[in-house]
Amino acid sequence: MAIERRAATEQAALSIKDVHAHYGSSHVLHGVTLAVPARKVTAIVGRNGVGKTTLVNTIMGIVPPTGGSIFVGATDLVGLPAYGRGRLGLALVPQGRRVFRSLTVDEHLSLAKSVAGNPFTREWLFGLFPRLQERRAALARTLSGGEQSMLAIARALSTNPGILLMDEPTEGLAPLLVDAVRKIIVTIRDMGLSILLVEQNLAFALSVADRVAVMKRGAIVQVCERDDIDDVGALSNLILGKAE
Ligand SMILES: Nc1ncnc2c1ncn2[C@@H]1O[C@H](COP(=O)(O)OP(=O)(O)OP(=O)(O)O)[C@@H](O)[C@H]1O
Ligand SMILES: [Mg+2]
Repeated sequence: MAIERRAATEQAALSIKDVHAHYGSSHVLHGVTLAVPARKVTAIVGRNGVGKTTLVNTIMGIVPPTGGSIFVGATDLVGLPAYGRGRLGLALVPQGRRVFRSLTVDEHLSLAKSVAGNPFTREWLFGLFPRLQERRAALARTLSGGEQSMLAIARALSTNPGILLMDEPTEGLAPLLVDAVRKIIVTIRDMGLSILLVEQNLAFALSVADRVAVMKRGAIVQVCERDDIDDVGALSNLILGKAE
């Protein structure tokens, strides 16, 4: 109830309504509904294979939805070609980083200077990621996994997004780097970005999110404000499918 009351007054950066997606005959998203509030971090938590990446890819136009709507302001993304997403302020940090192996760090950040009024200049990004500055002439394939993760985040920020989708940005990272990602998320949230974070790591999600949404079998089954969560064990059991 508390969430519904808040939802009526808050501004949503992204409104996902009854979204369905299929891979061939396999029905993967079964009517996802979720409001992503502006200037906050919303975490989607869920087990392997529940459809988290499919949802993110549907928002980005990489997977075409087979039903529903996805609003950014008054614009429904459904049916729009994938390439218009950047102009609407959307950017993605994809699962598994997916940096361009044969491009240098500098080349990944070439948008940082060409987007007018962009606060995420190359200098700013290098301030946030000093290791990338040290390696600015290196080809992405020669970077460590952690450096590639930072580059994927910097690349997305260089497009000056209003809404940042981050698909498991801490996957495979050492604890110090997980902590660095947490600080980056808080910094950009405080700069006004709306963030949709996909996480399998519940502890990480709880450490950074303002709102937590649990996904199971292609649907959002629970949404809680972070401040209202007092029983983490029950939340974990819900995610893992225990005590149902
Ligand atoms: N390109 C594809 N073609 C067919 N099936 C797919 C494809 N991509 C994903 N799937 C299937 O769709 C379901 C949802 O996958 P998805 O990658 O969205 O899950 P996820 O929640 O992101 O999982 P993970 O936590 O492992 O990243 C899974 O059953 C998966 O096997
Ligand atoms: Mg995934």
